[in-house]
Amino acid sequence: MIVALDGIDVTFRRAGNDIQILNSFSLEVDDGEFVALAGRSGSGKSTAIAVAYGRRKPDRGVTRWGDVELAETGEKELQKIRKTSIGFAAQDALVFDDLSVSANVKVGGGTDERCSELLESLGLAGFSTMKAGRISGGERQRVAVARALAKDPSLVLMDEPTASLDAAAAALVIEQLCHAAGRGAAVLVATHDALLEEAADRVIEL
Ligand SMILES: Nc1ncnc2c1ncn2[C@@H]1O[C@H](COP(=O)(O)OP(=O)(O)OP(=O)(O)O)[C@@H](O)[C@H]1O
Ligand SMILES: [Mg+2]
Repeated sequence: MIVALDGIDVTFRRAGNDIQILNSFSLEVDDGEFVALAGRSGSGKSTAIAVAYGRRKPDRGVTRWGDVELAETGEKELQKIRKTSIGFAAQDALVFDDLSVSANVKVGGGTDERCSELLESLGLAGFSTMKAGRISGGERQRVAVARALAKDPSLVLMDEPTASLDAAAAALVIEQLCHAAGRGAAVLVATHDALLEEAADRVIEL
């Protein structure tokens, strides 16, 4: 599902001043395309991802998922589309400590088979019955990635999904992102990771 941001402005108030984070920002990610969103810390990557997911309403500009214009669509309908078609992982992705690793992945939907396959591909096969509260930060990050991908979403939005990973674990995540684009998903990922940028079809600098 194509995601398009068109002429987006986002302004925050900080210490009494208005600071414009996104200024007429536009991007479009096509089906089957893997795009990295790069830029220094504080440049607005997470803000752009939040706008793309419909979490943050821009002060100006239009966001679309395919033919759906977010500002003209009810929250209930947006929620339905998120649930069926969008794989999202925030920068501080929520993992439920009291649930097992596999239950955490299943929260995102998808078949049991697909969930186990993803855990295996992300190097977590041995962890599936463990409580998520006991696994490492990098393992948690991969659980969040598996959860976002388990339903084979047609749009993938992730915010720094390799930030707590070493190169080997990051490569597993990157491989799955390439795989998602390969089966036709639009993939937009905010990142600082040179390996991820290299793997992407295109890099947008903020
Ligand atoms: N709700 C908010 N209120 C005020 N300022 C905000 C708010 N959200 C973000 N900002 C500011 O907007 C700027 C962009 O934030 P954003 O999180 O999009 O950056 P980023 O590029 O993702 O950075 P990082 O690489 O550190 O994750 C930052 O300076 C941040 O402090
Ligand atoms: Mg960020």
